[in-house]
Amino acid sequence: MRRLSIISAAMALFLGHAAAQTDYPARTITMIVPFAAGGPTDTVARLVAESMSQTLGQPVIVENAAGAGGTIAAGRVARAKPDGYTLFVHHIGHATSAALYRKLPYDPGKDFAGIGLITDVPMTLVGRANLPPNDAKEVIEYIKTNKDKVTLANAGLGAVSHLCGMLLQEALATQVTTVPYKGTGPAMNDIMGSQVDLLCDQTTNTTGPIGSGKVEGYAVTTRERLKTLPNIPTLDEAGVKGFEVTAWHGLFAPKGTPQPVLDKLAGALQTALKSPRVVERFASLGTEPVAPERATPAALDQHLQAEIAKWKPIIEKAGVYAD
Ligand code: MLT
Repeated sequence: MRRLSIISAAMALFLGHAAAQTDYPARTITMIVPFAAGGPTDTVARLVAESMSQTLGQPVIVENAAGAGGTIAAGRVARAKPDGYTLFVHHIGHATSAALYRKLPYDPGKDFAGIGLITDVPMTLVGRANLPPNDAKEVIEYIKTNKDKVTLANAGLGAVSHLCGMLLQEALATQVTTVPYKGTGPAMNDIMGSQVDLLCDQTTNTTGPIGSGKVEGYAVTTRERLKTLPNIPTLDEAGVKGFEVTAWHGLFAPKGTPQPVLDKLAGALQTALKSPRVVERFASLGTEPVAPERATPAALDQHLQAEIAKWKPIIEKAGVYAD
């Protein structure tokens, strides 16, 4: 009797899963962004969501759930039903949070299922338009000699702007006052309003304001200069030898999401990354979609594990933690 009920429970589960997979998606999908609207993660997510919704035949809506460097949203996604209706766009900060936060109510390396990588975004050191330094070398000197008054914005502990700022301060052996925001959207508003001095963040949000002169673009964080910002030197050129940081973005689901659902979502993601609108918009923002073989569940799962392992010793050495 007991055996029979175990078999019927297993059958029900199997049939439930099979039905979920053939019908999927049957309703609106929510894509959670762990930072404020108007920031780089939001920009990437909205472009991808628009195309995925066409492929999947259901709306894919973006919801911003900002706070604590992306960890509040990550906790929510980790606890969500793994049915393919709650997705999560996060970036390198998902990997660094594993070391930055001593206590997290979820495990970044175990509680998520990768769908695929999206893009690797270069970063830029930008300043308010009326900041005295005129170029990259001058801004480095300015930070060192004015460390007691310089303010450096970030999108919260665990944001990639925080990581870039932390690495820069370490490279310059100089600590300045950091100012956390709920995302790069509000941080950029305050740079443009001259309420804060500097920010290191992604080209997806800085290319436009640099071009229009609303902020000063001092340096890029890649080893090579960028085609979209050819006159801006690398930090390495400006004397911060070996400095390099870029922000990968990936699309995740809660762990336990059925593999056929993940594969269907990965197919829709790959279609999005080939769509002329996404390719053109990414190019105008100084980035490009990853190659199709990186926009897969296995590639993102492997990348996340490698990134957690890569950043742990670097963050431990820097001794920066959130409690
Ligand atoms: C970051 O600094 O991590 C991001 O730029 C935050 C955001 O997308 O707003």
